[in-house]
This record gives sequence, C-alpha cells and structure tokens, in this order.
Amino acid sequence: MQESILGLAAEVAAADVSTAAALDQFRLLYLGRKGRLADLFDQLKTVPADERRAIGQQLNGLKQQAQTRFDEAQQALEETNANQPADATYDYTLPAVPYALGTRHPLSLVREQMLRIFSRIGFAVAEGPEIEDDWHNFTALNFPENHPARDMQDTFFVPAVEGDEQPGLLRTHTSTVQVRVMENEPLPIRRVMPGRVYRNEAISARAHMLFHQVEGHYIDENVSFADLKQTIYYFVRELFGEDINIRFRPSYFPFTEPSAEIDITCLICKGAGCNICKGVGWVEIGGCGMVDPAVLENCGIDSEKYSGYAWGMGIERITMLKYQVKDLRLFTENDVRFLRQFEAL
Ligand code: DAH
Repeated sequence: MQESILGLAAEVAAADVSTAAALDQFRLLYLGRKGRLADLFDQLKTVPADERRAIGQQLNGLKQQAQTRFDEAQQALEETNANQPADATYDYTLPAVPYALGTRHPLSLVREQMLRIFSRIGFAVAEGPEIEDDWHNFTALNFPENHPARDMQDTFFVPAVEGDEQPGLLRTHTSTVQVRVMENEPLPIRRVMPGRVYRNEAISARAHMLFHQVEGHYIDENVSFADLKQTIYYFVRELFGEDINIRFRPSYFPFTEPSAEIDITCLICKGAGCNICKGVGWVEIGGCGMVDPAVLENCGIDSEKYSGYAWGMGIERITMLKYQVKDLRLFTENDVRFLRQFEAL
C-alpha cells in the first residue's frame, strides 16, 4: 500500500497538464470517483487497523497534491486563453490585407520618358546643384551685369556661403548645368540635364515658384540649326505621336543666337483653337537656339572651331499637355486622388 501511494504521487507530479484535454484526462485518472486515487481509498479497509490512520493521512496528502496540481494547471490555462483573441480560429491561408503601395509621380514618369527618348540618340544625363552662383546662372550665360535680360527671371537669393564673395541663388533654369558641363567635360558634348528650378513667382494654376526643366545641348564641330530642328522633331514625335506639328518661332535668349521658341499643335483642340492655346492652335513647350559664341568662350571652348545647339523645356508644361492637367498646383499638393491616376503608366 505504502509503495502504491509513493508510485502514484510520482505519477501525479509528472503527469502532462499542459492542454485542456490532458487536464481533463488528469482529472478522470486521479481525481474522479473511478480514478486511481479512489481505488486506493477503497483498499484502505484492507489495511490493518493500527496502520490505517497513518496510511489514511498519506492518502489524503496525495489527494491534496493532485487537487493542487489540477487547480494550478487549470488557472494557468485560463490565463493563456484570456490573452488570445476571442475568435482564435484564424485561416492562415487567407490573402493578407493589401499594403497600399505608392505610385510614381507624374513628373517623374514624364522626366523618365523624356530622358529615355534623348538617350536613344546619344544624350547622356548630367546634373548640377540647385544652389548656384551668379556666374553659372547669369554671367557665363551672357546676361551682362545690369542688363534688363536679368529681369526676365525673378530670382531667390540666398546668403553667401563661407568663402564666397557674392550671395548664392536658387537656379532659375537648368542652363546652369550646361555651363558646368562645358567648363569640365571634353568635347564633343551631348548631354541632357533634368532638374528643379526656382523663380520668385506668385503660385497660381499657371505659375509656381518651383518647377522642373529638361535642358539639353550638343557641342561639336559643324553643328547647325538643322541638327537642332531634327533633334526636336524626333523628340516631339516620339513623345506626342506622329501627327503633331512643330514650329520654331523666333525669340530671344541671351545665351543663344539665333533663338527660337518651340511650339507644337495644341493637343486639346488639335489646332482648331481653344482656351488652352488662347485660340491660336499652338502651345509652347520650350526654348532653344544655337549656343552663343560668347557662352562657348566663357566656358573655355574655341568658338571658331566649335558650335552647338541647346534647348530647355518645362516638365510640368509637357506633362500638363500630355495628360491634360489643368492646374500646376496639383503636382505639389500630394492629393492621392490625382496621383493615383498615373498608376498604370
Ligand atoms: N533657360 C531658358 C528658360 O529657362 C530655356 C532655354 C532656352 C534653355 C533656350 C536653352 C535654350 O538651353 O537654348 O527659360
């Protein structure tokens, strides 16, 4: 009897009570009316009378031990269950809630399209700083000191950085990068220069104090206006399609001579005249011209030997025409209802 009690005590201590099912099993096996402990209690009457009291005490101790083990395990199980969500029956094979991915900004998309078109005819990308100096933004580009041409662009000036005599400025056009490339790179040069530019303008549907341009230039021996025209024709037809007409309208820029503005058929009215093109059937997409010999010389290039053409186009402008965006401010407002429309492009 003594041995049975000790054996059962060891079993009770070692039994698995980690799950609800195991605990139920434990209760039936040790605490139930037909359980092993109940059996031992039944055998108590066969124990000699003088030992019965001591054995009875041991049996009660064992019963207490089993009960305590059961109670503790049950409480532990209840606590774990309380930390589970009420409905813990997940289907782990269900698809997850879709994570909202961002989309590419329309200006980035159009910039990439433009650069890709130019890269196919040999123009590699160059970039330059947004904080510039007077030389690269104006002087090297043939804007004489106090010449009214400087008034063409209202400029944001920034305090001079240490070591500089003059204040810096936020570049007003990407033509600054032309200068940097011509100063530093061996000839011939064939570059496209995308970037952000700044002008001190009141923000409206048609103007912004920051926007983007794609500049380009080709400097070599015997470069002519005919080369410029073919490059622009090719670019416009690649971007807008074959049935677009292009015209070069004489214009003036200090850094090109001759200079022209590039107009294309109005994409809204197909040339018939509407309020976007102000009734003329044409819209302007940028400026261009033959690089002024004085600019070449400013950058250390022999203007007797070399010539070149250049152009500058607004990315916002081209995006607005291509996708019929009517308000410039949409590009910087980050309204996802607007931005999502370019998701599939
Ligand atoms: N820099 C001019 C502007 O911002 C655009 C431009 C015109 C660039 C003619 C050129 C060019 O390279 O040749 O209005």
